[in-house]
This record gives sequence, structure tokens and C-alpha cells, in this order.
Amino acid sequence: MENWHWNGKVALITGIGGQDGSYLAEFLLSKGYKVRGIVRRASFPNTKRIDHLDIYDDKYGKTDESPFYLLYADLSDGISLKNILNKIRPDEIYNLGAQSHVGISFQCPESTINYNTLGPLRILESIKDLKLDAKYYQASSSEMFGKSPPPQNEETRMIPQSPYGVSKLAAFHLTRLYREAYGLKTYNGILFNHESPRRGLNFVTKKITASIASILVGTKDKITLGNLDAKRDWGFAKEYVEGMWHIMQHETPDDFVIATKETHTVREFLEEAFNLFDLNWKDFVKIDDKFKRPAEVPALLGDGEKTLRLLNWEPKTKFKALVRMMIIEDLKEKLNEKGLVNINDNNSDEYYINIGKEIARKICEKRNITQKF
Ligand code: NAP
Ligand code: GDD
Repeated sequence: MENWHWNGKVALITGIGGQDGSYLAEFLLSKGYKVRGIVRRASFPNTKRIDHLDIYDDKYGKTDESPFYLLYADLSDGISLKNILNKIRPDEIYNLGAQSHVGISFQCPESTINYNTLGPLRILESIKDLKLDAKYYQASSSEMFGKSPPPQNEETRMIPQSPYGVSKLAAFHLTRLYREAYGLKTYNGILFNHESPRRGLNFVTKKITASIASILVGTKDKITLGNLDAKRDWGFAKEYVEGMWHIMQHETPDDFVIATKETHTVREFLEEAFNLFDLNWKDFVKIDDKFKRPAEVPALLGDGEKTLRLLNWEPKTKFKALVRMMIIEDLKEKLNEKGLVNINDNNSDEYYINIGKEIARKICEKRNITQKF
């Protein structure tokens, strides 16, 4: 905070309270941006991931001088978006807000299209009408590739398999179109799945790691999942938001893939996570068709060659390290909640893994199942 010096640029982030928005806000503040974030009204606070950034309020309040503040708007409310764009006149706009759950998009297709497609359209129209000289980043998704076989890159045919995928593909094309038709500085980041300890609880990675931690502290006894055969290219969200910034610094507006170039099934994620505690995932996982989708994206594997070549950037964290990081953070949190450890003690990751293994041994004894090794 004390080291913050304005770099002369103002960034506006929609979806700032989400996984990516929270990391991006921290990253841009560390680069000296003034960050303004859009949150929507909720009956219960939806800003847990960014509440720590309120420290900026202490010194500046919500003034033009402030490094950081939040504004109310909604992607379904064009008036609110246009008013904010006119007031802030940002240099860079990162549109990360979305109904981002693929499974839920089958149940809520209309609002998914409203937020994810019409939301970007409302912003793009406002940039055009207000004649803003702003760069615009659209959070496009590997879900757009749908059933196109891997590896996928910027040239791959897109055949989406969900209302979410369709909503993102339409927004992708609007972003491209407003660049070509009106000369707006618009960028698409086609990001493959990226996860973190801040991931929403109903995405498969976090559901698995949080459930394992709950099993270990004794508040849950199984995990119920859907399709274990799907393959995903999973990276680390904190790194991917840096990739978003690199994309926006490229002089020529363009579309870029961000991916790890590794793919794994959901089953492999389970294996990797349970193996950390010498447990066999099959003893703890139940399949329920309600978590299967009416249509599925079978396999994603990104080819980020263009990003590496033109931006000289690629993510570093790979699958094994990601699984380990997520499970350790969840276990720490749950052990701390139960009063079994104090996370302020700065113990090593190995310390938590060993506690987990010890508890796992007792669970196996109690349930009469064998620990793996
Ligand atoms: P996330 O955690 O679900 O965050 C989405 C954010 O959008 C939340 O802050 C949410 O607010 C906000 N939002 C939803 N509807 C809104 C509306 N009508 N008006 C204003 N804000 C709204 O998603 P994420 O993982 O950070 O992903 C960020 C973006 O990247 C999304 O557009 C997602 O579709 C896209 N993407 C994600 C991945 C990935 O693997 N994470 C990959 C490719 C693309 P509430 O908290 O109030 O719901
Ligand atoms: N969520 C969830 N819950 N997924 C499950 C479950 C379950 O219980 N069981 C199996 N899966 C499978 C899904 O069917 C899918 O094949 C895979 O696990 C990953 O599901 P999610 O973690 O929900 O992610 P996603 O790939 O559908 O979508 C994410 O990645 C996209 C990029 O490709 C989201 O972050 C999207 O917003 C993002 O655009």
C-alpha cells in the first residue's frame, strides 16, 4: 500500500468479486493502476475475495485519487454500465463478469445469454457512443471450442456444447466485430480452465479439494460427482490474470489463447488429490447423474504457441502443483476452523500433508479400508 504510485492509468473490472477479478485487481494495483470495480447488488455480501483491498479506503476514501473502489452496476443494466464508463473513462476495461458455470447455463440459459452476450454488447456500444479511447478485454473461453478435438488454438473451429459456450462465442465475435467494424481496441483472451484456492465451490476442482479437506476433518464422508471422463487443461488463475494484462499490452488488438499444454481427466484430478494422503479415491466418490450435463465438452488441450511467440509469455504452474496447492489451502482452512492448527504459525506444506495422512490413516482404520501405500 505504502509503495503504491499511480502509473497514470485507470482500469475498470467487471466481475471484480470473482476468482479472476480479485487476482486481477491485486495485480493491476501492484502495477500502479487505479482500479475501479463493478459489483452487483446481493442480499448477502459478495465481496469476500476483495474485502482486503478496502485498506485503500482508509487513506483515500472513494475519491478520484483513490487507488481502488467499487461501484454498483449490473451487466443486464445498460444504463448503469454506460454511466460508469462515462464517469470513470478508463484506459483499460476488463470484462470478467459472467454467469460462469457451464452446468447451470442449461438451467438458466436466458440470463446466461443476457449477462454473457448482451452484457459485452452493452459495454462495446457504450465505448463506441461515448467515443472512449479505451482498450477492452473480453473473457472468452475454451468452452467455445466445444466438441472440436484437441489441441485447440485461435484458428480452431468453435462448436460450443452449452448455452454458456454459445453465449461466450457470440461475445467473442462481437468483440472481434467491433474491432473490425468500428476500430475499437478490443482483445479476446481465450482462456482454458484456471483454478485456485479462490475458485467457486461448485466447479469440479474446488468441489474435490474442499470435499477432501471436509472428509479429513470429519464433516463429510463422500463426494458426489458427474462425468469423470472429461479432459481439461487446468492452469493457475493468479498467473492467468497476468496473461490478460500481457494480452492488453499487445499493440495490435487481437485474440490469444492461454493454456498449460497439459490435459487430464477429472478422474486423474481425483487420483492426484487423494494420492497425497495415500487414499484410494474410489472409496470416497459416488456418481450421480444429476451432475452430468445434457451435452459435454469431451476434451480441452490448449495450444498457446501464438501467445508465447507474440507476447513472450506463458503460464508456469502445471497440473500436479495446482492440485497440491488447492488441497493444502483447503485443508489449512478447515483445520484452522476446527481449531486443530493455527494458520498463523507458518507451517510448511509438508506439515499439513502429514497431518492429513495421519487423519486419513485413522479414517481407513475406522471404515475398515486399506490406505494405499
Ligand atoms: P467467477 O468466479 O464466477 O466470477 C464471475 C463474476 O461475475 C462474479 O464476481 C459475479 O458476481 C460477476 N457477475 C455475474 N453476473 C453478473 C452481472 N449480471 N452483473 C455484474 N457482475 C456479474 O468467474 P471467474 O472464474 O473469475 O471467471 C472470470 C471470467 O472469465 C468469466 O467471464 C468466465 O466466464 C471467464 N472464464 C473463466 C475461466 C475459468 O476457468 N475460470 C476460463 C475461461 C473464461 P457475483 O459474485 O455477484 O455472482
Ligand atoms: N462443476 C462440476 N461439478 N463439474 C463436474 C462434476 C461436478 O460435480 N462432475 C464432473 N464434472 C465435470 C464437468 O462435466 C466438466 O466436464 C468438468 O468436470 C469440468 O467442470 P467445471 O469445473 O464446472 O468446469 P467447466 O470446464 O465446465 O467450465 C469452466 O471452464 C471454462 C473454460 O473451459 C468454467 O470456469 C467456465 O467459466 C470456463 O469458461
